Amino acid sequence: MVSVKFTNVSKRYEDGFEAVKGLDLEVKTGEFLVLLGPSGCGKSTTLRMLAGLEEVTDGEISIDDVTVNHLPAGARGLGMVFQSYALYPHMSVRENLTFGLRMVKGKDRLSDAEIASRVKEAATMLELEDHLYKKPKELSGGQRQRVALGRALIRRPKVLLMDEPLSNLDAELRHQMRHEIRRLHDELGTTTIYVTHDQIEAMTLADRVAILDRGVLQQHAPPLEAYQQPANEFVQSFLCRHLDDLVETANTLLRPGFGANKEV
Ligand SMILES: Nc1ncnc2c1ncn2[C@@H]1O[C@H](COP(=O)(O)OP(=O)(O)O)[C@@H](O)[C@H]1O
Ligand SMILES: [Mg+2]
Repeated sequence: MVSVKFTNVSKRYEDGFEAVKGLDLEVKTGEFLVLLGPSGCGKSTTLRMLAGLEEVTDGEISIDDVTVNHLPAGARGLGMVFQSYALYPHMSVRENLTFGLRMVKGKDRLSDAEIASRVKEAATMLELEDHLYKKPKELSGGQRQRVALGRALIRRPKVLLMDEPLSNLDAELRHQMRHEIRRLHDELGTTTIYVTHDQIEAMTLADRVAILDRGVLQQHAPPLEAYQQPANEFVQSFLCRHLDDLVETANTLLRPGFGANKEV
């Protein structure tokens, strides 16, 4: 089943710059798709068009077979997590988590009991039980990012969108959160589109990686397939060569005698 479909989607900004060109891409239900490419290649633009934060210049975007080009952001049933956590500083963790649910009026409004049960579930899943009554400034960077993730998930979005969510974290925490995000996905099965410029992040998280260069989709394939059968020179150099460099560096470090004469 297809959850999200881009058909010949283009984005031209007001200054005439074409940030996304003729994008055709389908994301299957339950899939973890990573949009990968260098800075400025159009990843955020693509995600923002899907989220309804940016107008589509040409083409069509659909979610669950419904065209959403003109649907307001709030009506698309999506959850979003950004690089900047954008938590409300004066609200507790609990209030931050439930804000979106509490804003819903009328027949779609959940009961207080249901909201409480979802908070409990999210807090357990994200190890925030002991922090529910703290303010964001009392939390570590990793905990804040978990609140941002919880706030998106608590609404049970049809699709979860993440735009470089780990970029502000230090290397160790990034590593840890990467595994947590994948574990959560395996547990919940939420269709996910994740944007990053980091090849390792993409390769370890994705069911399928979609590689962009200068607004044009270059290849979409499972990580191993993209690595073994790069579609063109760009993928070869941006993805394969980069990974090979890392492996080579690691092998050099491990070579017997390497660094033996260095003072430590
Ligand atoms: N509002 C805007 N007006 C004009 N150009 C923009 C605007 N927003 C982004 N761009 C340009 O579009 C290109 C793609 O941007 P973006 O989607 O943010 O890239 P990425 O997320 O891959 O780094 C960049 O060259 C950027 O400078
Ligand atoms: Mg971006």
